[in-house]
Amino acid sequence: MIQTEVKLNNIKKSFGETHVLHGIDLDIKPGEFVVFVGPSGCGKTTLLRMIAGLEDITSGELMIDGVLSNDLPSSKRGVAMVFQSYALYPHKTVYDNMAFGLKIAKTPKAEIDRRVREASEILQITDYLDRLPKALSGGQRQRVAIGRAIVRDPKVFLFDEPLSNLDAALRTKMRVELATLHRRLGATMIYVTHDQVEAMTLADKIVVLNKGKIEQVGRPLDLYNKPASLFVAGFIGSPQINFLPKEFAERYGANTVGVRPEHFRVEAGGAIKGTLKHAEKLGNETFAYIHAGVLGDITARIDGTLAAEPGQTIELGFESQHIYKFDSSGKRIE
Ligand SMILES: Nc1ncnc2c1ncn2[C@@H]1O[C@H](COP(=O)(O)OP(=O)(O)O)[C@@H](O)[C@H]1O
Ligand SMILES: [Mg+2]
Repeated sequence: MIQTEVKLNNIKKSFGETHVLHGIDLDIKPGEFVVFVGPSGCGKTTLLRMIAGLEDITSGELMIDGVLSNDLPSSKRGVAMVFQSYALYPHKTVYDNMAFGLKIAKTPKAEIDRRVREASEILQITDYLDRLPKALSGGQRQRVAIGRAIVRDPKVFLFDEPLSNLDAALRTKMRVELATLHRRLGATMIYVTHDQVEAMTLADKIVVLNKGKIEQVGRPLDLYNKPASLFVAGFIGSPQINFLPKEFAERYGANTVGVRPEHFRVEAGGAIKGTLKHAEKLGNETFAYIHAGVLGDITARIDGTLAAEPGQTIELGFESQHIYKFDSSGKRIE
């Protein structure tokens, strides 16, 4: 398969007077799985739709395999998009849903058949080819939508929150399947989500967006271990990192320090002392919600075998290598 490179040079987008994207620079390598992640409204879908050719680019350059593609019609870009809503034709069978785009493109019948069968094998939907979408589960429908993209053999796959409509267990399963699919196809994939777990588990490279700007680009564990800002530290990781205020941070020469819940340990004489407000006991681990006076509320992830009853006093320690320091502008300092 030919792998495709996508470059964004200072891409901006405005809807009238509303400026939504403020100059996005990004290199997507051939075959890379890139995830755009960020809170709702930060511009993820808009950016993806501009790459797809469904939205005009206000300024900047979109390069696909070295070709300036800003004004190329969507159908000529070699991209296929999978939407959260699936967008299947309700009156067409699974087979015809997948075949439709190829029919329009006047692909020979035998070739259509070959591609639809191959895609349905990959996605394990061969038994459902004659069904209508309404006779499928949510997960099966999403597979058909992905199959419709696969049969087109696109240069770049674009996914917009494709798993958001599925329940938690199915989301986990489909996540694994998407990762496997990427490995198998080797195609360049761009995937939009607001879910940092999806970003962490799927991406070769994560792009964290905030209010129409890139906050940080990096490999998942680099973002986890070396967040560039308060925003990234707060966005990546679950339960969320704790930010400790100036009263505490000053001794480390910082305005704020961050400590992840998993980096606390219960320790007599630890630097932080608080009262346990609530404990979520998950068996293997416990999420302890602690009130620590002027330091505010703290979440600690502690061993599931430890006693944790509301009202009890808890002292927490941590290794100094596990704290992140931030200056007053929210930038991380070493
Ligand atoms: N057609 C449009 N007209 C005006 N504003 C829009 C339009 N589409 C999106 N926006 C605005 O652009 C911003 C980014 O939207 P979107 O890209 O959908 O965010 P995300 O996908 O990250 O949730 C939002 O503030 C949204 O209201
Ligand atoms: Mg969106």
